[in-house]
Parts: sequence; C-alpha cells; structure tokens
Amino acid sequence: MTQELFLLPGDGIGTEIMAEVEKLIAHLNASGKTDFSTDSGLVGGCAYDAHGEAISDADMEKALGADAVIFGAVGGAKWDGVPYEKRPEAGLLRLRKDLQLFANLRPAIVYPALADASSLKRELVEGLDILIVRELTGGVYFGEPKEITDLGNGQKRAVDTQVYETYEIDRICRVAFDLARTRSNLVHSADKKNVMKSGVLWDEVARQVAADYRDVKFEHILADNAAMQLVRNPKQFDVIVTDNLFGDILSDAAAMLTGSLGMLPSASLGAPDPDTGKRKALYEPVHGSAPDIAGKGLANPIAMIASFAMAMRYSFNMVELADEIESAIAAVLGGGLRTGDIMQEGCKQVSTEEMGAAIVAEIG
Ligand code: IPM
Ligand code: MG
Repeated sequence: MTQELFLLPGDGIGTEIMAEVEKLIAHLNASGKTDFSTDSGLVGGCAYDAHGEAISDADMEKALGADAVIFGAVGGAKWDGVPYEKRPEAGLLRLRKDLQLFANLRPAIVYPALADASSLKRELVEGLDILIVRELTGGVYFGEPKEITDLGNGQKRAVDTQVYETYEIDRICRVAFDLARTRSNLVHSADKKNVMKSGVLWDEVARQVAADYRDVKFEHILADNAAMQLVRNPKQFDVIVTDNLFGDILSDAAAMLTGSLGMLPSASLGAPDPDTGKRKALYEPVHGSAPDIAGKGLANPIAMIASFAMAMRYSFNMVELADEIESAIAAVLGGGLRTGDIMQEGCKQVSTEEMGAAIVAEIG
C-alpha cells in the first residue's frame, strides 16, 4: 500500500538536507523496500513570502491527511520584522498544535566514531544513549494569557502562562514509561516543583503513572539539576520526561553531547487512533535553519536522515529499515567522512550531498 509523506523543507539549510532525504526515498522506492508517495509544501519564512502566513491552510490540510510529515527547519534574520503571529516558528507551532503532536521524542546517541567530537571527555559520552521525552502541545508555549500590555507610564508588562492539566502530564509520562520498558527501564521526571505549581502537579501525576509501571525505576529531578547532570555525567540517564520549555532547553544540551546539533533527530507523535491505531506524526531535526551556512553545501544532513529513520520506526513499523539507515550513518562516520560541523583530524570533509550519497550507498 502506498504511504503518503508530506515534505516541508522550510528555510535555510532545510531545503538542502531535505533533498538528501528525497534521494533516500527515491532509492528505497526503487529497491522495492518502500512504496512512498511524496508531496511537498511551504512552511516558515518561505511560506510567509509566498502566502503571508507561516503555513497556508491548504498545506495544513495536506499535513493532516498525510501518513507522516517530514519537516526541515524554519526561520532566519530575513523575517525578524514580520508580525509575531506570522513569524516562521508559528508554522511549526501550528503543526504541532493542530496535529496534536504532544509527544516529542529526542534521542541523543553518541556514534562510536564521534566520541571525540563531543565537547565532553570521551569517557563521559562514549556509548551514550538517552531519550528526552518532551511534552509538545502545552505549557508556556501555548498557555493564555500570552501578551504584552502597555501600562501607560512608560512601562510595559509581559505575561506568558505556564499551564498543565492532569491528562496532559499523564499521557506524556505514559509515553516515557512505555519507551523506558524498551530501553533500560529508568525514567527521570524533570520539573521545578520547588518554585512552580505546575511542577508540583507534574510531579504528583508522574508519581501516579510510575505506580502503574513498578518494573520501571522512577526518579524525580529538578530541571536545573538535570541540566547540570547532563554535562556532569550524562550516562546516568535513560529516559528524561519533562515539559515543553524544559524539554526544549535540555534537548539542546543533550544534542551537543553527541558532537553537534547536526546529529540529533526527533519524532513528534500524537495519540494512536482508537480504531486504526495510527498516529499523526512529524519528524524533524532538532537543529534550526542555520542561515549562515545555507546554500553552501556545508550542512550536516545526518539529523534529517536520522529523523526519517525515526519515521520508519514509529509511523510505519519498518524497524529493520530504521536500523539499516541508522547503521548506514554509523558506518559512514566510521569510514571517516565528516561534514564541517563534526570535522576531526584524519577525517575527510565532505559536502551535504556527498554525505547524503554515502549514506544511501551504504544502504545498498
Ligand atoms: C525546537 C525549536 C522550536 C521550539 C522553535 C523553532 C519554535 O527550538 O524544536 O526545539 O522552541 O520548540
Ligand atoms: Mg529548541
């Protein structure tokens, strides 16, 4: 059965790294391993330039109808002046919200060949395999009120609202515990219950969920301590579950442990449909659009390709193919090919296209 992928390359390096995924899809289809049809649309600054919105209603419809959305990156200084509701990031946030992609999985894996590319010592990161499970449709990103008011005395007042309800915490914690069971059976729940009411509720609900998973070890950790422990001794973690904002920050820190932000993929998943079991999903690299290196063939396509591998795993149950793509990435790195961001002595620096082609060739 043909499966539909909706590609949203976005801005900056988004188009270059998506081109490598398109080549991979063509290769997989030609070899009979998959039967994907693709369509593509505009999101972010390019959508604003074309339609005056960060994503058009027509493209939202296509995203809602697809079996999976593959997303590149959005943003750039060019759109600094556009109204807040139409800024490039608004397109991504609308996709997350309207597709109800509440569960964001951000694995940070250190490939053996890259253990020396990390800013931390080799022994701290070698063999690292952690998973950040970030709540993605709630918290301070979406809470109301969210506004700046003019107080009329030369002062302004800005408000963002951090808000969580029980069901939102419950469902993301269950995702984390279910995944921990397929890994090393350890969940850390990170919040700021020492200063935030939303943190108090977060911890209360996380502990209730933990009681349903007695075989999984549960640890509470304050989010600031989690940031510190991630750079002190990251291998103590298996799964970290946390809210939207802390997850944003902690996943950038975790990404850097792997050598480069250009290495970290992510999956954003909705709830399984009660009838079909299918879930809405969007796959994107954790890094941004890197306008400074866009169009120069310097971008690292690995996070994008690894995000595609996550789509095979989580949307299409093609676990072997996901493993094969991930092994191909490891093999190419093992063979000494590097994009500029992960360049090391004795290795060969290659372009975005050369890296993509080498990974495809490895898949055979
Ligand atoms: C991420 C990004 C986004 C976020 C931006 C682009 C809105 O930083 O996916 O981590 O803050 O969630
Ligand atoms: Mg981020």
